[in-house]
Parts: sequence; structure tokens; C-alpha cells
Amino acid sequence: MHLLLLNGPNLNLLGQREPGLYGATSLAAIEADLVARAAALGAELTCFQSNHEGALLDRIHATQAALPGARVEGILINAGAYTHTSVALRDALLAVAIPFVELHLSNVHAREPFRHHSFLADKAVGVVSGFGPASYRLALEGLLAHLGALADGS
Ligand code: DQA
Repeated sequence: MHLLLLNGPNLNLLGQREPGLYGATSLAAIEADLVARAAALGAELTCFQSNHEGALLDRIHATQAALPGARVEGILINAGAYTHTSVALRDALLAVAIPFVELHLSNVHAREPFRHHSFLADKAVGVVSGFGPASYRLALEGLLAHLGALADGS
């Protein structure tokens, strides 16, 4: 099971950026934790962050390359501000037709009205928003449950 974690603009500044809102944990720490959690659940997670919309599109397109390991079964995406602006990101995710979970550290619905709209949410498997760094873990578990790879402990 191969999964891809995408982070969009300004998320490279996690830990320094508005810590009251986004917390004190760096993106590197979040990624390392998530890679380990994914491995424990039997999945291999690749991480990619960019501040550039086109680079995110290229990374999504690269899942279609005929290279060993290129294909992924699911995507976790915190698109940052592009969530609220990018038709191109929506189109890229629809083009590759890979199930994805949208996630946010903050509760975007408790913030400015322009953050209430997402160009991705209606096409996502689900949306996780407002749990700080734990949003990443919850999104991973949700995606794996959707893909049928998470053992049902109940
Ligand atoms: C964010 C929420 C977005 O509205 C914002 O532009 C971000 C971070 C979050 O994780 O809470 O950059 O995606």
C-alpha cells in the first residue's frame, strides 16, 4: 500500500508560523511521525511539500508515471490556502482519480468566511479539520479505513 502526503504553501513554516493557530510542531516532525504510523499500519508513505501550485500539480501527475513505486493508492492533502483558490488542484486530483482526504490543522469553518469554501472537499473521501498535528494522523486512519487496509479492532 503506497500513500502520498501533500502539503501546500506556507506549511514548510509549521512550528514558527502563527503557533497559536497551527501549533509548535514542525512539518518535518509531523512527516516523520506519519511515516512511522503508516509503516506500523502496513503502508508506505511518501511526503512532498511545495509553495508552488504547479509543483503540486506535477507531483500529483507523477503518480501516473510508469516507474516502479510511482503509483499510489491514496493521497492525504493539506493544500493550505490553495484549498480555497485552486481549480487546477481539484482538476489534477480528479484527473488521476486517486482517493484523497483533505486535512487542515485549524478548523477552517471557525475562521474567516473565505476559508469556508474548499475546491477539494466535495470530491474528497472525507475532510479532517481542527485537530492540530493530530489531523494528519486522523486523516491517515480515515484514508486507510476507506481503502480497507485498516484492521477493524471493534
Ligand atoms: C490550513 C488552513 C488554510 O486556510 C490556510 O491557508 C493554511 C493552513 C490548515 O492546515 O489549517 O495555510 O490548511
